[in-house]
Amino acid sequence: MADVTDHLDPAIGMVHATTSRWEPGEPQAGLPMPKDPGLLTDVARRPRVSHFGEHRYPYPVPNGWFIVAESAEVSPGDVRPLYYFGRDLVLYRSADGYPRVMDAHCTHLGANIAVGGRVEGGCVRCPFHGWKFEGETGKCVEIPYGDLPRIPPKAHSRSYPTIERNHMIWVWYHAQGGEPFYDVPDVPEFSDDDWSPILVRGFPINISAQDMAENNVDFAHFQFVHGTESIPDDEFITEGTYKKAVGGGGTFVREGFGLGLGVLRVQNYVTFLSSTTPIDEHSVYVRWIFSAPKKNGEQAAAEAAESFCSGVSQDIPIWENKIYRDPPIITKTEKLILEHRRWAKQFYSEVG
Ligand code: FES
Ligand SMILES: [Fe+2]
Repeated sequence: MADVTDHLDPAIGMVHATTSRWEPGEPQAGLPMPKDPGLLTDVARRPRVSHFGEHRYPYPVPNGWFIVAESAEVSPGDVRPLYYFGRDLVLYRSADGYPRVMDAHCTHLGANIAVGGRVEGGCVRCPFHGWKFEGETGKCVEIPYGDLPRIPPKAHSRSYPTIERNHMIWVWYHAQGGEPFYDVPDVPEFSDDDWSPILVRGFPINISAQDMAENNVDFAHFQFVHGTESIPDDEFITEGTYKKAVGGGGTFVREGFGLGLGVLRVQNYVTFLSSTTPIDEHSVYVRWIFSAPKKNGEQAAAEAAESFCSGVSQDIPIWENKIYRDPPIITKTEKLILEHRRWAKQFYSEVG
């Protein structure tokens, strides 16, 4: 019998240990997969045996708000390279404190502004020939030589709406440059004196944001991957881009905002924000932000984080080697998977 206990799963909330499925000595239904939280950061140890063609998924990078950095990582004047949404980006913090994100390659002769670029006030200056860009709008505001009568409109770079919330820097990505159509929730616990300082865990996974989120509604996998039974939600609502699941008689509430942004609250235990930022069409960088009530002790947030990390370490080898079956062959009890796929379509500018 595997070592399984009731536990919290990042995707679904509380799951109960399976008690009746296996007899000692009988072959076990499901493995479960080994727990190995070290896999989260030690990518080299992960089993990656599948070979995906260029198009692992029939959909592109989704539109939405995604974390690109922790606030504390970027001080005024700092310039950082990023690679998300299949694009080279430059992130900088203006002298007056605002984070700005633009396409990294300069509209002039293509230098990567994150390599040697300098912040000047609210702008950043390209290291190659000194053209200056306003990150808030992407506008080129100065070409410091050559006596042009005006700055060519084509010198305008692409910038991305950026906000700072929950101690994180968020970027709005939209394939066609569309405006935000939902908001990032404020998590008051993250700045509440009765709650512990936030604890962040970050790790990459080779899977799309949509495919990872499908885990939420894949009830059968709990038995086979995690060795536990899922318990049905008491309440499940979907309203446009928003989702809410309540379980355990109200002890846990999971809210979803767009594709890849969730907040899970387990009463008297932990509040946990999960953000899944697309690196490209088939991989993501996950950031989990935990806080626990201080009255539960100094280690409470770390213990909750450890439990979620060991849970997801069971999923990672499956996720990184699976392909996307479309349409899938499913049983009657798996219809929510199709519903999830239909819901997710609203986050794509074009679905292949
Ligand atoms: S490439 Fe940036 S100023 Fe020339
Ligand atoms: Fe899972």
